[in-house]
Amino acid sequence: MQKNIITFVKICNSLTSSPKTAPIAGSINRKRCLRLSPSGRNLQPVKYILCNTPELNAKVFETLGWAGYLPEWPGPVEGERPSAYIVMLHDTTIAANTTIDVGIFAQSMLLQAVELGYGGCMIGTFHQGKLREILSIPGQFNVALVIALGKPKEEVVVEAMKNNDVKYWRDEQQVHHVPKRAPDELMVNFRKNKKEKIKASVSIG
Ligand SMILES: Cc1cc2nc3c(=O)[nH]c(=O)nc-3n(C[C@H](O)[C@H](O)[C@H](O)COP(=O)(O)O)c2cc1C
Repeated sequence: MQKNIITFVKICNSLTSSPKTAPIAGSINRKRCLRLSPSGRNLQPVKYILCNTPELNAKVFETLGWAGYLPEWPGPVEGERPSAYIVMLHDTTIAANTTIDVGIFAQSMLLQAVELGYGGCMIGTFHQGKLREILSIPGQFNVALVIALGKPKEEVVVEAMKNNDVKYWRDEQQVHHVPKRAPDELMVNFRKNKKEKIKASVSIG
């Protein structure tokens, strides 16, 4: 499990799609990772739709935006497209805002996918109107996020971010490079006494 969580940072955009991987959405569903995720005020306003038939997948694919920093890449080609999608919905009759819950649920789902041997990508760029029409989504729901799932295909390399440049890029071998901020940049210390030592390890429990 430890290994899988670390591998998780390298979730990718290009996947291998085949009928064999299509049941993944169902596997994730059965694992109940959504049902068991934390939820603010325990309201659980996030619902989801599973899509894993070739016909439906093709329609959903057309509504999605892929890798905005790679304008020359039109998105995954046939055969590398996701085998399944989980369309996450915000039920507006339950809560006014779901952003944090959606993030938690999406992460839980991708971790579950990795544990089951799959990969995936969160897609926040989608055509709300077209998706609603394709999936007959009633007015009380908003599409919050789409999770694309499949077998990982592309090689992803995590590298140190330089000059605050957040843009991922692809080299000539089509290896996908993702710049990440250094750990020292993420952990901040605003206390006046900067010399105060921080323990290298903390025992919990
Ligand atoms: C909320 C959210 C929305 C995203 N939307 C898209 C998207 O619309 N299209 C896409 O190709 N990737 C999307 N991504 C994937 C990010 O581009 C990707 O996570 C980021 O480049 C870091 O790469 P990594 O996940 O390999 O670490 C999204 C990620 C998150 C968390």
